[in-house]
Amino acid sequence: MQLPNLKEAKVRTQKEVVTKTNDYIITHDLVELGRGRQYYVKTYGCQMNEHDTENIKAILEDMSFTEAGSMEEADLILLNTCAIRENAHNKVFGMIGRIKHMKETKPEMMVGLCGCMAQEESVVDEILEKYRWLDVVFGTHNIHQLPRILKEAMVTKKLNVDVLSIEGDIIENVPVKRDHPYKAWVNIMYGCDKFCTYCIVPYTRGKQRSRKPHFIIEEVKELINAGYKEVTLLGQNVNAYGKDLKIDYTMANLLEEVAKTGIERLRFVTSHPWDFSDDMIRVIARYDNVMPYIHLPLQSGSNRILKLMGRRYTKESYLELFHKLKQALPYSAITTDIIVGFPGETEADFQDTLEVVKACAYDSAFTFIFSPRIGTPAAKMLDDVSLEVKQKRLHELNDLVNGYSRKANEAYLGKIVPVLIEGSSENNAEMLMGYTDTMKLVNVTGSKQFIGQIVPVKITDVKTWSMTGEIVENA
Ligand code: SAH
Ligand code: SF4
Ligand code: F3S
Repeated sequence: MQLPNLKEAKVRTQKEVVTKTNDYIITHDLVELGRGRQYYVKTYGCQMNEHDTENIKAILEDMSFTEAGSMEEADLILLNTCAIRENAHNKVFGMIGRIKHMKETKPEMMVGLCGCMAQEESVVDEILEKYRWLDVVFGTHNIHQLPRILKEAMVTKKLNVDVLSIEGDIIENVPVKRDHPYKAWVNIMYGCDKFCTYCIVPYTRGKQRSRKPHFIIEEVKELINAGYKEVTLLGQNVNAYGKDLKIDYTMANLLEEVAKTGIERLRFVTSHPWDFSDDMIRVIARYDNVMPYIHLPLQSGSNRILKLMGRRYTKESYLELFHKLKQALPYSAITTDIIVGFPGETEADFQDTLEVVKACAYDSAFTFIFSPRIGTPAAKMLDDVSLEVKQKRLHELNDLVNGYSRKANEAYLGKIVPVLIEGSSENNAEMLMGYTDTMKLVNVTGSKQFIGQIVPVKITDVKTWSMTGEIVENA
């Protein structure tokens, strides 16, 4: 057993991060372990977790497991979890309860928990106390050791907890089974050193570690050769890319080099306003294949709250950056994240947030009620805003934000915009769906032959969260 430790997770060691190109090993005894068995991975949380699941699936297939069509059919269920808010945590424990019932009629089925919740000392304590019937718990730093961890649990038939609290090295040879044939996630960095006071990510993902540029470029080139049209560069704080490498190389340099590979669409998430450089803005403006879409989390519009959050910018400096971006990239869509009900947030603070939302008229926003996370500084602050007030603020904010989303979409009516057609629409199999360059969801009428292509689409109708359009042939 290797248990997570909150104190260790908070530490930032000086230990040099080593890039390892052969640390994922699948020895002879592991290759056949999954033969005749099916796996199912359920993913919660952000794109980082979705991409980790793509690695987990490939590792399981290296062990001869095959993917099950549903959880009910699986011999191995893994929950790849998220710890960002209380409700993510509750959903997972709800699911574990459901799986327990399934296991009663299927006792040989194996069940595991991984991802960010596995990195939490308090969660693993709870599992050891109440859920000892689980088979494996592993963290975000040792996904590449899954074959060994799983084998140990199979052999001992006991719960095997294997979670490292100090981040590991960068493992470059982990396989990946991509969910999508046309768009791909590419990690450019792991971890986060920003330590915003409300956020658990710096503890669940460890210190910031940037991948070396040439590994990223190689991966993108391979994706182009495999027919991929779109790449999203992933990191919790991508603008800080390279700061931990001992070479003079920034996110602007990386963005430019990746743009030069010729990938048709290049995106990146998430940008912290603090590290957004003018060089980056110039690169986004210069290269047509860098998509005009920027996610720029605000969190709060109150300087007092921003300071308590440890966000390192003010309302004024945020607005200055926002306007600089809009000036350089007038066609771009900008979206954001906002937290309401942070400890001590007054009505005046909340009004400041609304004011920034009005000034920015975001294309869309993800809005959240503050959720105290064990081990973070904000969890120790006096949470003196009542739930009723928090909910009222969330509603008011959502009404405002949704109005702007709709307005932003209305501006597309009658226009012809490029859409990467991904497949059939979820709600209507007769229709296709895809995203514009500005990341707007469009349900499209047109021939299935266009799936996988970027085509001109005329927008015929808009709603708050989606649009409808038709492919313009011979445009
Ligand atoms: N790295 C990204 C954010 C990742 S988490 C960034 O810095 O912008 C995604 C969003 O979840 C955050 O932007 C924040 O709005 C929200 N969030 C994070 N911790 C939270 C908490 N404790 N309570 C409520 N929302 C939270
Ligand atoms: Fe969390 Fe802040 Fe890091 Fe984003 S930048 S992951 S909000 S600590
Ligand atoms: Fe959740 Fe972990 Fe992502 S906490 S938001 S899955 S980094």
